Amino acid sequence: MVAVTELGYVCFGVADLGAWRDFAGGILGLEVTQEPAHPGKLFLRTDYWHHRILLEENGADDLTGAGLRVAGAEEFASMRAQLEAGGVKVTTGSSQQAAERYVHEVMFVRDPADNPLEIFHGPRVDPHRPFHPARPRHGRFLTGDGGVGHMILRNKGLDEAYAFYRLLGMRGGVEYRVPLPDGNEAQVLFMHCNERDHTFAFGPPGRKSINHLMLQVDNLDDLFMTQELVQASEYPILISLGRHANDHMLSFYCQSPSGWMVEIGWGGRPATHQSEYYTRDTFGHVPAADRMGPGMSIDRE
Ligand SMILES: [Fe+2]
Repeated sequence: MVAVTELGYVCFGVADLGAWRDFAGGILGLEVTQEPAHPGKLFLRTDYWHHRILLEENGADDLTGAGLRVAGAEEFASMRAQLEAGGVKVTTGSSQQAAERYVHEVMFVRDPADNPLEIFHGPRVDPHRPFHPARPRHGRFLTGDGGVGHMILRNKGLDEAYAFYRLLGMRGGVEYRVPLPDGNEAQVLFMHCNERDHTFAFGPPGRKSINHLMLQVDNLDDLFMTQELVQASEYPILISLGRHANDHMLSFYCQSPSGWMVEIGWGGRPATHQSEYYTRDTFGHVPAADRMGPGMSIDRE
């Protein structure tokens, strides 16, 4: 079975590209670049890759493509066959679409909840262009073999999500079973494809494709520096500082200019590759309930 190896890049349609430039550069401390060949787009960097986040100005304010990497051309062809054998409609990207993403080849699929996925191989890596953050920072973003980070995506049923992402070679299971006041429990499914604890997670249904994008920093001072910059900004913290029970990530969540959340994390542990579950987080992660939209409460304890 062929498997995806990492969440290599993510693409978003955003209504206010100027606000995102200031947020991504001045607050989050990403590198913000542009390409003459692609006016109207912002390419955000966190490491040596050409980019890890692509922003295009449109009114979606949502995920437009989650780029999942496969090892090379052979795996790319095998993955297409694997998906088609599983009944998934695959659209092969043109050379122009691959060029716009700075990859060798790309294909497009939709998951059961209509989330837009892009499977690619051969990202452009620029070792001659060291990561140059838009503001000073103490350390770096943790990417490497773990990919850009993780996301919680919309789902139309955890069983359907599990079956689809297994077809991509990912593994995982339900890691949170949170008791609810009515006697039921809320379940959250986590899937991984490398040593990052999880690449995608799925909880209660939401309207947008994305609930949040997590970016991990390797220096604790950067976590608190970013939190201070958020607190001094117009963007509210929607889930307070806390530590997740599953990946041990110390993190907080703030609202992005597109409404969905960005989680800044530090100290997460690698994937355990064994199933277990929790009923709440270790501490903290208190949601600002009055600001939470539908489907936004899945990270609460
Ligand atoms: Fe997260």
